[in-house]
Amino acid sequence: MMYNNRCESKFKCYKPKEGISINKPLIEVKHVRKVYRMGDEKVVALDDISLDIYRGEVVCFLGKSGSGKSTFLNMVAGLEKPTKGEIIIGGVPLHKLNEEQVTMFRQKNIGFIFQSYNLLPMLTTLENVSYPLILRGMDKKERIKRTLRSIEEVGLKGYEERKPSQMSGGQQQRVGIARALVVEPKIIFADEPTGNLDTKTTEVIMKIMLDKVKSNNQTLIIVSHDSTIAEYADRIVTIQDGNILSIEKNENIRTPQTEDVLGDTKKLEN
Ligand SMILES: Nc1ncnc2c1ncn2[C@@H]1O[C@H](COP(=O)(O)OP(=O)(O)O)[C@@H](O)[C@H]1O
Ligand SMILES: [Mg+2]
Repeated sequence: MMYNNRCESKFKCYKPKEGISINKPLIEVKHVRKVYRMGDEKVVALDDISLDIYRGEVVCFLGKSGSGKSTFLNMVAGLEKPTKGEIIIGGVPLHKLNEEQVTMFRQKNIGFIFQSYNLLPMLTTLENVSYPLILRGMDKKERIKRTLRSIEEVGLKGYEERKPSQMSGGQQQRVGIARALVVEPKIIFADEPTGNLDTKTTEVIMKIMLDKVKSNNQTLIIVSHDSTIAEYADRIVTIQDGNILSIEKNENIRTPQTEDVLGDTKKLEN
C-alpha cells in the first residue's frame, strides 16, 4: 500500500521537490462530482468542480442555499467521498486513502467550524476544546496547557467551566473556533460559521478567525450564502447549481471593524 497510516506525516513533511515551483497549490480539486442517490432519484449536488487553493489563502465559497457549498466543503475536508474526481492536499490524494487514514489525516491537518457550533452539550468549554487533543493522545499536562491558551486566544478566559447552554451563540462559536484551532491545523474549514449570529457578533467572530489564521499562515476555506462574509476573503468563488460560476480575486478586502475581542466578552458578561 502506497499510503500507509503515516500519510499525515507525509503531509507534514511535504516539501516541493527541486524543479517544482514552491507555488504548488496546497489543495488541488480536479473534476469533482457528487451525486446522491435517493431511491430511484439522482441529486447532482456537485457537477464538475476544479480549482486550486494556495497556502495562507482565505477563500470564500459563496452561493445560494442548495448550490452545493456544504457538499463541496465536506468533500475537501474528507468527510465524504466524491462520486468522481480527485482531491489532493499537500500532495496526498484524499480519495485514495481508506477511512481510517482519512480520519487520521483530518485529525492532524484539518479544523472544522460549524454553523450550529456542534459542541458536546454535556461538556464544559475546557472539555470541548481539549477533545481533539484527547483524540490525538496528547498527555494531560501539555493538553491542558494548549487548551487554556486556545481558550484565552478566543477571549474566553474565565469561561472554562461553562457548558454551551450557559453561553451566548457568539461565545459558543468562540469555543468552536478554539476547538478547531487547538490542534494547529494547516487548513480550517468553516461552514456558514456566522449563520446563526447577529451582525455585530459576526464581525467579532470573523476578526478572531482571520487574526489567528493570518498570523499562523493557515489556510481558511469558508462557505456562506452571505456576500458580506465574502468581503473578508482573498478570493471569492461563486457556486451555482454544483458548478463554479466565477472566481474573483478580492481587490478590496474588508477588515473586521470591532473593538478588541476581550473587551467584547466583558460586555457580554454584564
Ligand atoms: N445526503 C444527501 N442526500 C441527498 N441529497 C443531498 C444530500 N446532501 C445534500 N444534498 C442535496 O445536494 C444539493 C446541495 O446541497 P448542499 O451542499 O447542502 O448545499 P448548500 O450547502 O449550498 O446549501 C441540494 O440539492 C441538497 O438537497
Ligand atoms: Mg450548507
